[in-house]
Amino acid sequence: MTITIRQIHPTFVGDVSGVDLTRPLSHDEVAAIEAGMDQHAVLVFHDQQFTDDQQVAFSRNFGEIELAVAGNLTKENEKRLSLNFADVSNLDRDNKLLARNDRNRMFNLGNRLWHSDSSFRAVPAKYSLLSGRIVPAEGGNTEFADMRAAYDALDARTKAAIEDLVCEHSLIYSRGSMGFTELSEEERRMFRPVRQRLVRTHPVTGRKSLFLSSHIGRIIGWEIPEARDFLRDLTEHATQREFVHAHRWRQYDLVIWDNRQTMHRVRRFDDTRDVRDMRRTTIAGDGPTIAQVA
Ligand code: OGA
Ligand code: MN
Repeated sequence: MTITIRQIHPTFVGDVSGVDLTRPLSHDEVAAIEAGMDQHAVLVFHDQQFTDDQQVAFSRNFGEIELAVAGNLTKENEKRLSLNFADVSNLDRDNKLLARNDRNRMFNLGNRLWHSDSSFRAVPAKYSLLSGRIVPAEGGNTEFADMRAAYDALDARTKAAIEDLVCEHSLIYSRGSMGFTELSEEERRMFRPVRQRLVRTHPVTGRKSLFLSSHIGRIIGWEIPEARDFLRDLTEHATQREFVHAHRWRQYDLVIWDNRQTMHRVRRFDDTRDVRDMRRTTIAGDGPTIAQVA
């Protein structure tokens, strides 16, 4: 079998065939996938019936796994999955649907906002690998937006104006924008804002992209309302339909996205009725986008 990648959107997203990711891969296969990620920013694989251990082993081909700590409200001893996984399902530790008023459910609804994974961490994520173990019959698409194409389409004046801007990211901002504001002192400490460049350059391709995320709450040196107004405008530009691809899930799809060049969001579905068991491994980035303040 040889790996074949077919681009399914005018600017990004490759549909991959000819590889079984549940078994150990050759060096060449890993290199082909990594090159595909650099070029297409999102890759879709079908019929990958992973166990958790197989997903972890496959993920490790691309770098170190970012542990799921300090990224949500679930305490370590209450997690359904190991710390190698971000649990983006609608299930509790006993595989029961989260109740409508469950605090974790409301926090997780934040994934319906456009974001880049772990942009709220000092070292933001490289890749996310999302495995659809149980997918709902209706709704729950994941949408991706190409932040390179969005950057390229800006006019020269805007590009110059944003080149050196630095933003503050925190889960407090993204959840706050949904009205989820009740956080303990400990949670507020855990979600302390970090700084990220607004324009970043891909380490391999050298392409620039917009590092936008709903986790952004401030632009350093700007008044908050003018920053929020500007970011809303930029996000509206970057998520126009021409830059967006919607992935409709089939069971055992694996989708990998490069958080350094895309944003994503999950769309509505009946999450108090239908099970959506999605398991994400995340590859840590290789450094901060800017020096952090103490
Ligand atoms: C994620 C996320 C998307 C989805 O896994 O990072 O935002 O479709 N979820 O559940
Ligand atoms: Mn996400």
